[in-house]
Amino acid sequence: MSKERTLSIIKPDGVSKNAIGDILARFEKARLKIVGLKMLNLSEAQAREFYAVHKERPFYNDLVKYMTSGTVVVSALEGDNAVIKNREIMGATDPKKAAAGTIRHDWAESIDANAVHGSDSIENAKIEIKFFFPELG
Ligand code: CMP
Repeated sequence: MSKERTLSIIKPDGVSKNAIGDILARFEKARLKIVGLKMLNLSEAQAREFYAVHKERPFYNDLVKYMTSGTVVVSALEGDNAVIKNREIMGATDPKKAAAGTIRHDWAESIDANAVHGSDSIENAKIEIKFFFPELG
């Protein structure tokens, strides 16, 4: 097993449903250490840049609009196989397909309001962590 870091964002729906504590507790129970934590409101420019990888996708504008619609909580998580572990804890992107017991199964409403974002690879995790936590190096 390798020690890795990954980036998580609790999206506006997760924050507005008072799910911050539940979601962060799930990470800690799974032995993912919270090594960075910020509550903020993304500007449109930040959201566009963060999700630039999706800029050709038909859902890009809606995604940016949604991610700037309310407060988010961004965390950097560290642990064995953190990227895959976080993806397992989150469940499938589409909550209708998310397995029982996952964050998206328990909290998400739709593919846009899907409670959390998590890095999809070690490479992207490095880019995403640098975006929000340049101090973590
Ligand atoms: P996230 O993990 O934040 O990464 C990109 C987001 O785009 C994704 O979660 C969804 O909330 C949103 N999205 C909307 N439509 C789609 C789609 N068809 N496929 C993938 N992601 C989508």
